[in-house]
Amino acid sequence: DGEVYKYYADGEWRASASGKTVAIVNPTTRQTQYRVQACTQEEVNKVMEAAKVAQKAWARTPLWKRAELLHKAAAILKEHKTPIAECLVKEIAKPAKDAVSEVVRSGDLVSYTAEEGVRILGEGKLLVSDSFPGNERNKYCLSSKVPLGVVLAIPPFNYPVNLAVSKIGPALIAGNALVLKPPTQGAVAALHMVHCFHLAGFPKGLIGCVTGKGSEIGDFLTMHPGVNCISFTGGDTGIAISKKAGMVPLQMELGGKDACIVLEDADLDLVAANIVKGGFSYSGQRCTAVKVVLIMEAVADAVVEKVNAKLGKLTVGTPEDNSDITPVVTESSANFIEGLVIDAKEKGATFCQEYKREGNLIWPLLLDHVRPDMRIAWEEPFGPVLPVIRINSVEEGIHHCNASNFGLQGCVFTRDINKAIMISDAMESGTVQINSAPARGPDHFPFQGLKDSGIGSQGITNSINMMTKVKSTVINLP
Ligand code: G3H
Repeated sequence: DGEVYKYYADGEWRASASGKTVAIVNPTTRQTQYRVQACTQEEVNKVMEAAKVAQKAWARTPLWKRAELLHKAAAILKEHKTPIAECLVKEIAKPAKDAVSEVVRSGDLVSYTAEEGVRILGEGKLLVSDSFPGNERNKYCLSSKVPLGVVLAIPPFNYPVNLAVSKIGPALIAGNALVLKPPTQGAVAALHMVHCFHLAGFPKGLIGCVTGKGSEIGDFLTMHPGVNCISFTGGDTGIAISKKAGMVPLQMELGGKDACIVLEDADLDLVAANIVKGGFSYSGQRCTAVKVVLIMEAVADAVVEKVNAKLGKLTVGTPEDNSDITPVVTESSANFIEGLVIDAKEKGATFCQEYKREGNLIWPLLLDHVRPDMRIAWEEPFGPVLPVIRINSVEEGIHHCNASNFGLQGCVFTRDINKAIMISDAMESGTVQINSAPARGPDHFPFQGLKDSGIGSQGITNSINMMTKVKSTVINLP
């Protein structure tokens, strides 16, 4: 049961010598949809070796040629949007339209990366010595950006294609090789995406894609001596990786508890629209989803009413039907969400809708009058359930936001721009959106988390820079 897919090594599609596969369960049907290879450590070693060899030649390939191949891959990716989107629908229950958007956005991201790369990597620096005390003008320092070597990319299930290419594109344009370990749910979509890079004609071995159980090859990959950089997006695993990884640059984005602070003077229709979009699109399974609403008491009833009216209009069903709310990715995820909901119920939260679940499908739920002793006030459900905490001062809202161990994004709704800026300054999050829900894109914007939300900054330009190091040559005149 389940169509079997091969992994990608040295420019070829291969079956693992393990003879074993990993099942990908369709979140909607809860049946095995596909199977991917359970790669062995020996196979990981081979992929790493091939990447190391291929990278040396790739680093010497002219930048414009690297860009040309990336543009080609981007175009092929867009041409293949339908079959790739179909995998996203079957593997991660992403609504069909959003699945297509993910692939198109990915093609655009790769093209932009190629353009940005030729500009920023085409520039170097010249320094002269006599600006530092005691020096004559006899030393000229030429510096430029050089690749790191082999980049290991580990994207999450919620954007298996987009958050893979946001690592692959920058790595390749900067002259690195790339080893991809896709998430299990989303692995087949990722393999299709890798196939587009294969069709574009990248050199053999430069890109490798290994699949398998994290428990068998996860640590082996992240601690592998052949890895020169790790770019990871996901959950707590990232904290464990950062403790075990060697002395290599790490780029990590590990989720959030994005707060939405609503002031009395806000445009309440705009607020309600953004809470619904921010909290419930892709059933809340986005690291940038609104995960806690902090509303001034005076407008709380009005906002809750408006949000409830909109939630009542959301469609709940299958991703094939383009339902707004679709099954969450796994049964264990649904169980976790349910645990948070039950805890809040027991501690006295008001349920604005009836809690309903069928299999992995959870109906949208707004929880009002949530208090700090409830788990849902702090934990990330990654599902279509959203807590509302009523506040009596802006300071209370900022305090709740800053007491979180996360600090990815946040948003504030007010018509007073001065207040908005002051609140943004006070919020300990990587990005604060004024009068809009949190979002990573446009993809060239910097994207970063504070505290447990991550290390480093992403976004196309930042990722290219992060995947390079500075190399200097000093000319010493007599
Ligand atoms: O899930 C994490 C993603 O980086 C969020 O991206 O804001 O485009 O949904 P998004």
